[in-house]
Amino acid sequence: MAQAAMGTTQQYNYEIIRKFAFMALVWGVLGMSAGVYIASELAWPFLNFDIPAITFGRLRPVHTTLVIFGFGGSALFATSYYIVQRTCQTRLYSDWMASFTFWGWQAAVALGAVSYMLGYTQSREYAEFEWPIDLLITVTWVVYFLIYVQTLRRRSQPHIYVANWFFMAFILATAILHIFNNLAIPVGMFSMKSYSLFSGVQDAMTQWWYGHNAVGFFLTAAFLGMMYYFVPKQAGRPVYSYRLSIVHFWALSFLYMWVGAHHLHWTALPDWTSTLAATFSIMLLLPSWGGMINGIMTLSGAWDRLRTDPIMLFLITALSFYGMSTFEGPLMSLKSVNALSHYTDWTIGHVHSGALGWVAMVTFGSFYHMIPRLYDTRLYSTRLVYVHFWLATIGIVLYITAMWVAGIFQGLMLRSFDDYGNLAYTFVETVAFLHNPYVVRALGGLFFLSGIVVMAYNVYMTIRNAHAEAAELEAKLAAKMARA
Ligand code: HEM
Ligand code: HEM
Repeated sequence: MAQAAMGTTQQYNYEIIRKFAFMALVWGVLGMSAGVYIASELAWPFLNFDIPAITFGRLRPVHTTLVIFGFGGSALFATSYYIVQRTCQTRLYSDWMASFTFWGWQAAVALGAVSYMLGYTQSREYAEFEWPIDLLITVTWVVYFLIYVQTLRRRSQPHIYVANWFFMAFILATAILHIFNNLAIPVGMFSMKSYSLFSGVQDAMTQWWYGHNAVGFFLTAAFLGMMYYFVPKQAGRPVYSYRLSIVHFWALSFLYMWVGAHHLHWTALPDWTSTLAATFSIMLLLPSWGGMINGIMTLSGAWDRLRTDPIMLFLITALSFYGMSTFEGPLMSLKSVNALSHYTDWTIGHVHSGALGWVAMVTFGSFYHMIPRLYDTRLYSTRLVYVHFWLATIGIVLYITAMWVAGIFQGLMLRSFDDYGNLAYTFVETVAFLHNPYVVRALGGLFFLSGIVVMAYNVYMTIRNAHAEAAELEAKLAAKMARA
């Protein structure tokens, strides 16, 4: 086994994948702890303690940055490096460049989180990093792009497997979005502060063109790349329809780019941009559901696996949440529905059914498949995978139902009038109503967080056992050699 491990280590660069996977779990635990903390601050505001660094306003971007870029981003680096090597049957183009992407990315996430707590921010959602960190991200990303393309060029297979297409779209789109949305002028060489090149309506439009494509390419396309590799692998059968996966890819890549303005309904933006965004959002339902069906049907004829394989359970549940949030999204993009949902917690519920149900669950399933293979060993405990699955599922259900109740009631209360045309509820009454759903949400978050802590323990024990097995084997080999 140790020899086999050595063979694969030489053929592929697994070291870099191990590092990224490890950091994904570290950021996952930290980011979700921040999520639980800010959820608790909303339920019990005294938790702000009048300490600026830990107030809701500063910790919120710390949460989103750690979970999206720290946890999600590191998981994407890990799985994309794994998939590109395995499907192209070649080693990563350059070890030192891969190492550079690791340190560059980790530094950017850590610096970002610290700078927000200190009060430095561009105030652009999901792009709060100030300009020096933006430059670091740009360089890291260009190196990532080069490694990916060069590794694809070195492939020993004529074909480029569809998962790589999704990863390439993610890398390219993220580069374009990051550069254009962050065009800014620093106040001075030694100042962290900068001002955006855009203003007014253009500013809002550019930001939400970025914002929704961050959802489309970072939180969706790239995780679909993960799905297209790990679902067939874990199911032990080919993807249901390869042709559908190609249609899925092109339709998704084309449609996402147009929908940003659905974040800006009923604002100063021209009305036609809203209509255009809503139309494209509705059309997005088709490729999204095509992809979901393609993933789920890969298991057709082997449904019984769901009874015995908790990893499959993670992956299929993730696809179901993907289907659910991509049904809810187009619905919310309709101007009439958005008039109710916008500015309410319905949006937050939608975000987390995608983020927890899809992004995090597909990552967990993929990691449970990948990590033992990286160490050429078996998972420490399958039972703990089940425990994680149920903690996570209960957590999501509590979270999103609490947010639906909070959001829909909040929206209805804000727009209800009495017989004289006066508002039926004061603003503070709507806030008081939110307390109970916020408590339930914090509880749901706690469940979800406990799940990833269980996973971290399971992974730690798996790696520890792998090292112990390797050491034992080496000792046996040495004894054999000595006898010979
Ligand atoms: C333990 C799990 C989690 C908890 C308790 C949690 C909690 C929260 C809270 C309280 C907010 C602020 C809501 C508000 O402003 O009213 C938030 C925002 C957000 N979270 Fe989470 N979160 C969790 C996990 C995640 C994960 C894993 C992701 C992504 C992969 C994520 C992505 C986001 C995003 C994108 C926002 C901003 C939403 C918006 O502006 O509409 N969260 N989260
Ligand atoms: C067909 C697919 C989807 C469509 C058409 C869609 C549409 C929407 C709409 C209309 C909003 C509310 C905008 C507002 O009122 O401000 C929204 C918010 C959001 N969605 Fe989706 N969604 C889709 C899928 C997803 C998925 C799969 C995820 C997560 C992985 C996701 C993450 C988010 C986030 C993070 C926000 C909040 C952005 C913010 O205000 O900060 N969406 N989406």
